[in-house]
Amino acid sequence: MSVNKEVKRITTHVLQAMKTRGEKIAMLTAYDYSMARILDEAGMDILLVGDSASNVMAGHETTLPITLDQMIYHASSVVRAVKRSLVVVDLPFGSYQGNSKSALDSTIRIMKESGAHAVKMEGGAEISESVKRILSAGVPVMGHLGLTPQSIYKFGTYTVRAKEEEEAEKLIADAQILQELGCFAIVLEKIPATLAKAVSEKLWIPTIGIGAGQHTDGQVLVTHDLLGITKDFQPRFLRRYLELFETIKEATEQYIKDVKSRDFPNKKEQY
Ligand code: KIV
Repeated sequence: MSVNKEVKRITTHVLQAMKTRGEKIAMLTAYDYSMARILDEAGMDILLVGDSASNVMAGHETTLPITLDQMIYHASSVVRAVKRSLVVVDLPFGSYQGNSKSALDSTIRIMKESGAHAVKMEGGAEISESVKRILSAGVPVMGHLGLTPQSIYKFGTYTVRAKEEEEAEKLIADAQILQELGCFAIVLEKIPATLAKAVSEKLWIPTIGIGAGQHTDGQVLVTHDLLGITKDFQPRFLRRYLELFETIKEATEQYIKDVKSRDFPNKKEQY
């Protein structure tokens, strides 16, 4: 199935309708204007200004260091590029865990200063007060369960989550809580495909999987992984559509050669 050109602007209602009629939802990360323009023009349903910007854009080992100001900078660059996609912004670590008031304050800053359309938060029952407060301010919230990278030091590793029954049951309960609170969608990261299928069938709101198999209502990847700009990250769930690290490196090497050999610029490339 190709991009539905009838839809001029993706909203949370459009996403809900997509789940109802069984149309899969495509989501990728974006952190800057130029890339967001390409992805939006290609017909992306959701652009996630992920806190993975901390890894991909800034080179940090985890998502923890990125600040609210930095997320707003990335989000406003993405929003300026977008005509069709729904722009969802991660609330960064430390900007919502304190209490529901700080969660709402951070959300209001994101919405006012970037022009984004929704926020995403990691966690289940433990963040329910904050989710409720943000939703009651009229801001759509996307949940995120399973491997939640902001808790990496609690987990200890980036391996598959919820393989054991107890954790799987908590995940199902959390997903239901987030739905009851009014979240418009939930990201399920790195959990068994059978569990993701069960959650997706139980919920009426869409699930978006990353490393969660083929039965979620949509899929998300980090754009730089899909394009092969990041190089050393090769989990099983990642399909690379390009090897841009090598392509860009080769083009750069050619440019260096051309400059050094005085081939660039030539007569046609000057005023
Ligand atoms: O920050 C991010 O890129 C994410 C996706 C991996 C879902 O949260």
